[in-house]
Amino acid sequence: MRKKIIAANWKMNMSCAEAAAYLEILFRELGQDEEVEVVIIPPFTAISKVSELVSHSQQVKVGAQNMYFEKAGAFTGEVSAAMLRELFVRYVVLGHSERRAIFGESDETVNKKTRAAHEAVLKPIVCIGETLTEREAGKVEEVLERQIRGSLAGLGAKEMTETVLAYEPVWAIGTGRTASPAQAQEAHAFIRKTIAAVWDAPTAEKVRIQYGGSVKPENTASLMSQPDIDGALVGGASLDPRAFAQIVQHSAGK
Ligand code: PGA
Repeated sequence: MRKKIIAANWKMNMSCAEAAAYLEILFRELGQDEEVEVVIIPPFTAISKVSELVSHSQQVKVGAQNMYFEKAGAFTGEVSAAMLRELFVRYVVLGHSERRAIFGESDETVNKKTRAAHEAVLKPIVCIGETLTEREAGKVEEVLERQIRGSLAGLGAKEMTETVLAYEPVWAIGTGRTASPAQAQEAHAFIRKTIAAVWDAPTAEKVRIQYGGSVKPENTASLMSQPDIDGALVGGASLDPRAFAQIVQHSAGK
């Protein structure tokens, strides 16, 4: 059984004060239920504050939105995996489509980061997904396979089971256009099949695959009830603690 994982990708939003106010509401709304794993992914500047405020919780963990693959040195503006670990970060989002499109990250860069994250015992959430043009050209599977083989190259089976994948069709991110549950399930099943082919079937069964792209409380239940969808990476709707708590609850069938 794969435990569902729901993550709040705050992107470049939230001051430390806003994060504190948010978490107070979130903990009140979530109650004691620990059926679903929850990850809060603040900007770097609020990680320390969020770590402090979730340290009492078994359910809520902290993630980062990016990191660099080198251990240390002259890389102005970057942070390393070890620096994140020092702040009790457990997950790191890698290869988000905004990083790929705006900051030019390739599968090769994402691969280096994914390996560096595992080396530092940080669990990567590796994002993959096709653009609208690629979908319309019938290239969804080709793109996903290329991203899986490229971004995850060289990972052992154990590292693979500790990697979370996020299927985020680029046309659904921040657009209000969600993939239908059937469209998402089809892509997730393909991703799992590809993992089974590149690694092995037991590994593929263990890997958690999140869906991301305009997830909101209203569409959570139908997406999360699909057999290969194991959670969500939530952007816009995660900025409202009440909406995010509802997404967590609906993903557990509540
Ligand atoms: P969205 O973002 O929920 O605002 O579409 C998802 C993401 O980019 O991870």
